[in-house]
Amino acid sequence: MKNSFAFKTMFVLMLSLLVQCSTNDKVKTEETKVPEKDTASAKEVWLAPDTSTIPKDEFGELVRYGRDLIINTAYYIGPEGTVSKNLRNKMNCTNCHLDAGTRPYAFNYISSHARYPQYRSRENRILTLADRINNCIERPHSGIALKLDSREMTAMLCYMKWLGQNVPMNQHVEGDSPYKLELIDRAADPVKGEAIYKKECVTCHGPDGEGKMRADNVCYEFPPLWGPKSYQPGSSMHRVYKAAAFIYANMPNKNSNYKNPKLTMEEAFDVAAFINDDRIHKRPTNNGTVNYPNIKTKPLDYGIGPFIDSFPDLQHKFGPWGPIVKFREANHLPTKF
Ligand code: HEC
Ligand code: HEC
Repeated sequence: MKNSFAFKTMFVLMLSLLVQCSTNDKVKTEETKVPEKDTASAKEVWLAPDTSTIPKDEFGELVRYGRDLIINTAYYIGPEGTVSKNLRNKMNCTNCHLDAGTRPYAFNYISSHARYPQYRSRENRILTLADRINNCIERPHSGIALKLDSREMTAMLCYMKWLGQNVPMNQHVEGDSPYKLELIDRAADPVKGEAIYKKECVTCHGPDGEGKMRADNVCYEFPPLWGPKSYQPGSSMHRVYKAAAFIYANMPNKNSNYKNPKLTMEEAFDVAAFINDDRIHKRPTNNGTVNYPNIKTKPLDYGIGPFIDSFPDLQHKFGPWGPIVKFREANHLPTKF
């Protein structure tokens, strides 16, 4: 008798839990509109949920703060930050992770929360998403890692979780990776790149790649591309392929996007080579140089050897990458960029 009562109560409890879960799910899918089909492109690009759907509770409060931190990074944690002084330059995360990390093919965070912890070749170990955020604080921002239990770190993680709420676990979604460029069959050419820079980029990013501060001096109107206030070597943007993919799909800002790029892929490679040529341009190195401890998983386009093949460092950095890919394929070696 007692047993059957307990059984009944459990049954009712389970049933109500089930109902609750499915109603919650329903609310979620109604409130958010992802993925949306990008009608102008053949592919289904994932878009971020609408910010009006950020919940009005404690979690939502941190989501909003996290988004604010991505947009106004220097204001909060820059060299003159109001909360802390973790960054050593005044760039904002959104300068590279465009539209607060939501724009397709602009290094968006839409699937990030669903794909970490993951193996990272630069460290040759598994990193959490918080570790990965700190990588960007240490490299492009030349800064000091945020404390893992700081309100700022928690807020950024909440924002990324909220962004990716409908994304399948452990999978990429269209638009979260760099735009796929076709390799050119010559080396990317910094000399040609300089001419493109002078024509298409200099008005905003300046003759010395120094960018332009916003009038209030808090952060940039146009962020720097090289020099002491720009990203360090070892940053992903320092790699020619990644920078070219970003530039092709997004620059010149506002006049270009992946559906309607202003530069050809060839021009994007050349200008990325010019920006990232250490023989011409200096960058801060206060956080030391990085090299990949495991040559098997080191990206093919990193600029410093040793490599798993014997092609010279300069060819790894600027290409032509075709022969390297071909050699590696023939020898069953990794071809990852
Ligand atoms: C100079 C440009 C630049 C700046 C500034 C920058 N990042 Fe990044 N970040 C990158 C690039 C490039 C990647 C690699 C993207 C890729 O390979 O898909 C990256 C990767 C990441 C990733 C991993 C994403 C993933 O899904 O694997 C996270 C998280 C991240 N950045 C967070 C931040 C945060 C937070 C800030 C600000 C504190 C920041 N980044 C500032 C360029 C930048
Ligand atoms: C109309 C002004 C404008 C032009 C022209 C322009 N950019 Fe940008 N660029 C920007 C702005 C603004 C950002 C930051 C975007 C943001 O914060 O939303 C940016 C960001 C960048 C970034 C990432 C942030 C950094 O500082 O590393 C790179 C790389 C870049 N631009 C390269 C280029 C290249 C190469 C060209 C020429 C092909 C170019 N840009 C032309 C305005 C411009």
